[in-house]
Amino acid sequence: MNNRSSDMAGLGARRAAAALIGDVLTSRRPLDEAFAAEAAGGALARVAPRDRAFARAIAATVMRRLGTIDHLIDAMLDKELPKRAGPVRDILRAGAAELLFLRVPAHAAVAMNVETANKDTTAKHYKALVNAVLRRLAREGDAMLATLDTERLDTPDWLWESWTGAYGEETTRRIIRAQYENPPLDLSLKDEASAAVWAETLGAAILPTGTLRLEDAGRVEELPGFEEGAWWVQDAAAALPAKLLGDVKGREVLDLCAAPGGKTAALAAAGADVTALDRSKPRLERLNENLARLGLPVRTVAADAASWSPGRQWEFILLDAPCSATGTARRHPDVLRLKSPADRDKLAALQARLLDNAASLLAPGGTLVYCTCSLEPEEGERQIEAFLARQAAFARKPITPAEAGGLEEIITGEGDLRSLPCHMGIEGGMDGFFAARLTRR
Ligand SMILES: C[S@@+](CC[C@H](N)C(=O)[O-])C[C@H]1O[C@@H](n2cnc3c(N)ncnc32)[C@H](O)[C@@H]1O
Repeated sequence: MNNRSSDMAGLGARRAAAALIGDVLTSRRPLDEAFAAEAAGGALARVAPRDRAFARAIAATVMRRLGTIDHLIDAMLDKELPKRAGPVRDILRAGAAELLFLRVPAHAAVAMNVETANKDTTAKHYKALVNAVLRRLAREGDAMLATLDTERLDTPDWLWESWTGAYGEETTRRIIRAQYENPPLDLSLKDEASAAVWAETLGAAILPTGTLRLEDAGRVEELPGFEEGAWWVQDAAAALPAKLLGDVKGREVLDLCAAPGGKTAALAAAGADVTALDRSKPRLERLNENLARLGLPVRTVAADAASWSPGRQWEFILLDAPCSATGTARRHPDVLRLKSPADRDKLAALQARLLDNAASLLAPGGTLVYCTCSLEPEEGERQIEAFLARQAAFARKPITPAEAGGLEEIITGEGDLRSLPCHMGIEGGMDGFFAARLTRR
C-alpha cells in the first residue's frame, strides 16, 4: 500500500470510530448492533477488516474511559461545544482514546482526527479547535491523567453506588481496572476430553474451569475447529451455570431463555435431551444455526417463559434470565453507558415472574439453576432471597468450589456462584455472573 492509500485507510477507521461513538452515545444503540449496521452500509462499509477492528477498538476504549476522556476535553475547552457542532465531541473523544489509551503516535492521531472533522459538513467549521485540543492532549494529557481518579470518573454514579455497596470500594476498583483491559477469547469444547489436543492446536491455555483461553485470536471463523464445530465462543464464567445441573446425560433438560444457545450447547454436548425455549424467534433461529454448526440437535420452543404452561414438569431446568448484563462490560463496554437503574428494576421484576413460572415447571426433587450476567444484587442474591421467601417448597442446593474449577473466591457463604470481572485476574479475568442452584422439596 502506498502512503496515500494507507492514509486513506486510516481515515476510514477514524470516521467509522466517530460514527460508532455517536451511534452508541447519541442514538443509544448497543455497540455490536451499531457495528453491524455501519458495516452493512454505513461508515464501515468500505473499510478493510483490520481498520474495522481498529475503529471498534477506538469506540470500545471511549466507552470504557468516557468519564475521564470527557473530563479532559472539558478542561481544554473555554466554553461548551454548541449543539450545532455535530460530531465534534465524538471526534475529540476518539482522538483522546487514541492518544492516551491506545498509544497511537501523536502526529497520526491528531492529523487523522482533524481530517475526519474536515470531511464532515458540520464539524469542518471546528477543525482548528479539534487540532488545538488534540495537540494539547498529546502534550499535557498524560500529566493531567496522573492527577485524576479515573476509576471513579469512568463509572456511572448508579453503578459506583451499587458495586461499592455490594462488594466494597477496593473490589469495585479491581472490577473497573479489569474492565479497562481487552478480554481474551474463551472457547467451550464440545468434547471436554480433547482439551489438551485443542489447546495445542489453537495455542490456547486451559483454565481451571476447563475453558480454553486465547490471547489476540483474530477472526473466530478462521480458527481451527470452527468449521467442524469443535467449540463455541463462551466466556469462562458463562460456561459454569450449565455444569451446575450435574450429570444430565440421557436426561430431559428445559433451558428457559436459551438463545443464542451457549448454555444449550453445553447441555446438549453433555448428552442431555434439551428443550430450548426463548421468546424471540430471530434469536431462536441463531440458536438453531449455532447448534447445527456444532452438530448438536435440540428441540426449540418460541414462547414467553413467564407464562408458558405445557402441562408437564422437568427434573432439570436452567433459567438464564434476561438482565442488565453489567457483568459483561469487559466484552460489551457500552452497557456501562446504556443501562440505567430503571432497566435493572424492570428486569428484576421480569426475573421474579420467570423464576415463579420456572418453579411451577420443576418436578418435586428436581433441580433449578437460575443465573444472570449482572453484577447487581437485585438480579442475583436479592432476587433469590425474595424467591425463597415466597416459595416455601424451595431450598438452595449449595454450590461447592470444586464445581467451579476450585475457584473458592467465586462461591459465596450461602453456596451461590458470584464471579466478578476481576476474578481469575492473573489469567485475564472472567465475566460477572450470579448463579443459584435450587431444589423443590
Ligand atoms: C441472557 S440471554 C440468554 C443467553 C443464553 N442462555 C446463552 O447462554 O446463550 C436472555 C434471553 O432471554 C430471552 N427472553 C427475554 N425475555 C423472555 C421471556 N419472557 N421468555 C422467554 N425468553 C425471554 C431473550 O430473547 C434472550 O435470548
